[in-house]
Amino acid sequence: MKLTEEQLQQFDRDGFLFFPGLFKPDEVKVLTDEVPRLYAQDRPENIRERAGGVVRTNFAAHLYSDPFARLARHPRMVDPVMQLLGEQLYMHQFKINGKMAFDGDLWQWHQDYGTWFNDDQMPEPRAMNVAIFLDEVNEFNGPLMFIPGSHKLGVIEAKHDLVTTSYPLWTITNDTIRQLVERGGIVAPKGVAGSMILFHSCLVHASTANLSPWNRVSVYLSLCAVSNHIRRFKRPEFIAHRDFTPIECLPDDCLLKAYPVDLPWLHGTPPSALISEAA
Ligand code: SIN
Ligand code: MN
Repeated sequence: MKLTEEQLQQFDRDGFLFFPGLFKPDEVKVLTDEVPRLYAQDRPENIRERAGGVVRTNFAAHLYSDPFARLARHPRMVDPVMQLLGEQLYMHQFKINGKMAFDGDLWQWHQDYGTWFNDDQMPEPRAMNVAIFLDEVNEFNGPLMFIPGSHKLGVIEAKHDLVTTSYPLWTITNDTIRQLVERGGIVAPKGVAGSMILFHSCLVHASTANLSPWNRVSVYLSLCAVSNHIRRFKRPEFIAHRDFTPIECLPDDCLLKAYPVDLPWLHGTPPSALISEAA
């Protein structure tokens, strides 16, 4: 899949591109069928919501789940990111966010590159976020909200919030958000399961709690240019990966055919991947 000149201009202006229904229902089903099994596992990669114990985020499934390992090598997802970053890519982070019906908590306003810069010492914002909807996203189940154009501002001052939710995040103050929204407004791409969003790692985003009866499970893949790999291993490896090997894509039908993939963490997370290095 090659981005057109118009899409490249749109990405430069807005900081994101939306592809409704890019993955077809039979492809999405291969992934959604696997999620309950992953969420039921007692693994450190499952981070739960503060209340209720449902999974907020599952990390690194591409290292122990066959369907997600194939998604991590999907050319429909990898090729446009390579085109935008002009280089081979490695997987910096891989998560399946639950945002479960009634219990899915909010994500505060933030830029992902803020965390990658502050915690991981990623040199430049030459990494891209990809969101793939496994459920329909509508106005009620906590869609991702963007402030268009906010990626142009580089790294915005943020503070490390360790209390609001069950997951620590470098968050942006309400005053700054008010100013950014006056300039750029807020948009929330919504659509069928299988839709994909590419968004710049400096784009300011957030999502509200899910009070609806509908789950909003989405996969978030963060692909980084190989030469821009992280320099500090402060966060555990299952959150910020340290294997900078370039991704090799599988054929376009890889969700429907069982191409062989490596699953190095199938029988458990290596102890070395659980420890944080001192800052
Ligand atoms: C994120 O920003 O990493 C997740 C946001 C969401 O799942 O809504
Ligand atoms: Mn984020």
